[in-house]
Amino acid sequence: MHIIHHTTELRTQVRQWHAAGLSVCLVPTMGNLHEGHLALVDRARQLADRVIATIFVNPLQFIQGEDYDTYPRTLEEDSLKLSERGTDILFAPEVAEVYPSGLENHTEVSVPALDGFLCGASRPGHFTGVATVVSKLLNLVQPDTAVFGEKDYQQLLVIKRMVSDLCIPVDIQSLPTVREEDGLAMSSRNNYLNEEQRRIAPELYKQLQKIADQLRAGETDYPTLEHAGMDELKQFGFEPEYLSVRRRHDLQLPSTGTPPEELIILAAARLGKTRLIDNLQVLSS
Ligand code: PAF
Repeated sequence: MHIIHHTTELRTQVRQWHAAGLSVCLVPTMGNLHEGHLALVDRARQLADRVIATIFVNPLQFIQGEDYDTYPRTLEEDSLKLSERGTDILFAPEVAEVYPSGLENHTEVSVPALDGFLCGASRPGHFTGVATVVSKLLNLVQPDTAVFGEKDYQQLLVIKRMVSDLCIPVDIQSLPTVREEDGLAMSSRNNYLNEEQRRIAPELYKQLQKIADQLRAGETDYPTLEHAGMDELKQFGFEPEYLSVRRRHDLQLPSTGTPPEELIILAAARLGKTRLIDNLQVLSS
């Protein structure tokens, strides 16, 4: 695996591959890689001749007071894992390489149709930061496909919508959330949990499963389900931010006539200082 830090070198390499008729798949990450990320690499290898993974802790998507400074940076371990899984290039740029004119007044890509609610309500500017950096990476690499995890479901829809609205010629693929044995969705932020919090953390997914069962059984009083779920989470020691039943294709509120297989349940909750998110498509459970 070749590690590249500069955009010019990256562009040269990709140009050569394209000229040779090879397809390219991009796997954007912020590093501190776990099995969920590596499953994206496995998928990328099936989808294209060459795989480029990126590791970039994007300052633009962290809001004031979030963990940008302390976000785990584990480039050495990450590059080993990526190399073992058959990644061809790891692109790991410095902030100044991605934002040479600085972050102030940088051109931004916003996706208002999917922002301002759920994670967008508590993290104003976060999805604009994500959409901006992903559009830059897509322009830099010009991959045939790019793969994202479904754990950040709202992010996935933001990226799909951006690609569609801006006519970016890339196929966005997604992979289901990879979970620990006890159901906890894999996340780089799980490392922040202490032993006691780690024991409680899977209750978030259990709540989603419980609500999915009720929806499948024909329950349509979504607010009652949401409130009951939030109350239970509080009893376990979570501070829930939201727990919401939505339409899975656009994250809007469902009506009582929406078939359960079109629904998704999404949640964000704090456990101590750690913010956990998870979701469950009623269809898939
Ligand atoms: O999901 C992530 O790790 C990040 O939001 C992404 C898509 C790599 C953009 O920085």
